[in-house]
Amino acid sequence: MKISLTTDSVTQIAADAVVIGVCDNQQLQDAALQVDQASQGLLARLIEEREIDTTPYACTKIMHFPGMRSHRLVVVGLPPSAELSAGVAYKACGAAAKFLSGKARSRVACYLDTEPWEDAIAGWHVGAIGQDLFRATKKTFPIDEVVFPQRDQVAATHGIALGEAINLTRLLVNLPPNMLYPKVFVDHCQAVARANDMQIEIWDSQKLAAENCRALLAVGQAAAHEPYLVVLQYKGNPNSNEHWGWIGKGVTFDSGGLSIKPSESMLDMKCDMAGAATVLGALQAVAQMKLRVNITAVVGLVENMIGGNSYRLGDVITARNGTTIEIHNTDAEGRLVLADCLDVAISRGANHLVDLATLTGACMVALGRFVAGGMTNHPAWYARLARAADECGEPLWQLPMFADYRDQIRSQVADIKNVGDGRWGGAITAAKFLQEFVRDVPWVHLDIAGPSFQDKPSAWVDAGASGVFVRTLVRMAEESQD
Ligand code: BES
Ligand code: MN
Ligand code: ZN
Repeated sequence: MKISLTTDSVTQIAADAVVIGVCDNQQLQDAALQVDQASQGLLARLIEEREIDTTPYACTKIMHFPGMRSHRLVVVGLPPSAELSAGVAYKACGAAAKFLSGKARSRVACYLDTEPWEDAIAGWHVGAIGQDLFRATKKTFPIDEVVFPQRDQVAATHGIALGEAINLTRLLVNLPPNMLYPKVFVDHCQAVARANDMQIEIWDSQKLAAENCRALLAVGQAAAHEPYLVVLQYKGNPNSNEHWGWIGKGVTFDSGGLSIKPSESMLDMKCDMAGAATVLGALQAVAQMKLRVNITAVVGLVENMIGGNSYRLGDVITARNGTTIEIHNTDAEGRLVLADCLDVAISRGANHLVDLATLTGACMVALGRFVAGGMTNHPAWYARLARAADECGEPLWQLPMFADYRDQIRSQVADIKNVGDGRWGGAITAAKFLQEFVRDVPWVHLDIAGPSFQDKPSAWVDAGASGVFVRTLVRMAEESQD
């Protein structure tokens, strides 16, 4: 998608379609006001008569609007102007893109007046790409060019980097599990590393054994596809003492193992590598923007399958950090993968950690499909992430890490077991398990089981992978440059 700038006004511009925004129940502003004046008040009348829907992110198309040089006007509903924010810019532009991408368009002009521009451009990228990767008849068509009224060039390159990163994350999650297995994900990591001049280490099963990553290996041991762990290093600020570790769960398919999932719950389990995909996407964006931060990304890539060589209930496994784990449920595999990845990140010197994982159905029971659960051992580090998430409009809610929950993962035969007692508080007992592997390094765990993958489309993004939390991670990096 080409992003270009114009000095033409909204009424003068020549494009396949011109997009403007109207805040719900408010006076017309900026571009909308100009369109209204050029049409002698027609825009306001149509809104009053409810021919134009101004509920947030609704889109209405009007042909041959008077006073306009372009033949197609698209009006996007926005929340009240007091609420305009990065999340609104992203969603409004996503909605316009999704609305317009039902047909091929070569040149679209965006006069939405939403800020920041970065998120607006990202929204255009995301809305115009769907999940119909393998359909003969596509539902969405990429838009060749989006023209904006004059703005800051740096924000444009950042917005493109952000949009492409989110779409990379979405693509990886949307690819079916027969096409995206650990080795294929590794190839994508390698491509990102090469294109951005990053150091990469690829650990195959032999190296994983030598590194004592027995927990990760146990999960992958019944799969025909080899497991991998990838370490990517981005060094953007040699003068900073902060060294972040971004850790992602990369289970390319989760059958549940011997604790097999029922068919309905297994269907979407290609999404179980969304944490790893989010980490890779965000890292690509940070590298392209050349942000002044230091990040070691660690992704654990395995397939949780069933076979004569499966790990069993009752097995005791020694994780990389020496902790022994009794397996009570082979479907609680993500925490085993992350246990070793967290330890690798710490041994690489990471002193601030964020892990992302589609970890528990319990988190969805607690918070629903749109909200991520956040858990931490360090309130100040959590607050930095939560602020970025809030600014981006990516819903996040903190869950408590009371010490009592730790009791539930005690095992009679090993140091810990891989599930709590029963289902209650399952998102928290999972986080308590992870906490065993972070020593006292400031750490945030994001359970993105709900928001990372959607059954239904929203106004601004197709169903399937959402790419959620790429923006939050990147924004946090942008805000942490010294
Ligand atoms: N990958 C699943 C969690 C999940 C569920 C992600 C739904 C996305 C949508 C995870 O590996 C899992 O199976 N967790 C179990 C844990 C339980 C056995 C303690 C769960 O949530 O049921
Ligand atoms: Mn599972
Ligand atoms: Zn899983």
